[in-house]
Amino acid sequence: MAAFDFPPVYPDCINEFYSTEVAGEAWALGLLKVAKNDIDRYHFGTFLQLETENKAHLGLLLYKYNLYASLSEDENLNEEVDKSVDQYQDSDSLREFASSQEEFIEKYLDRFQEIQKITPEEDLEIVDRMVKHEEAILYWVETLSLEKIIDLLANPLPEQP
Ligand SMILES: [Fe+2]
Repeated sequence: MAAFDFPPVYPDCINEFYSTEVAGEAWALGLLKVAKNDIDRYHFGTFLQLETENKAHLGLLLYKYNLYASLSEDENLNEEVDKSVDQYQDSDSLREFASSQEEFIEKYLDRFQEIQKITPEEDLEIVDRMVKHEEAILYWVETLSLEKIIDLLANPLPEQP
């Protein structure tokens, strides 16, 4: 995953957003493969919907600025995903697992807010959604409620089991 040790440059940082969503999909898929029960499967499946839908939103900006040349869908994410999968498998509860993810979610939220500050007005709707989605994930970490995530989805999963 991208190391955020440089200031974001607009619109190149849209690719950074995109790669975090590619990483988010890999994360959700990795967890879905080892989900321990139907409830966990519903949570991770909802995350997958969120990350995939975000990619579609970002597609509008990728097209606008023609950012395809440096776009990558196949970054090597195995190590990051394996770490989260291990944390999930070692957790006694979904709540314990959620807490273990807090640090990196906060790191993303900080970065997304940084990008939001340099976003031109006309693109703010899409970039605001990126910030909102990370806040919704952080809300899940703190409460295990998917409410804010589901509010963002055009294609939510059927009712929670
Ligand atoms: Fe994401």
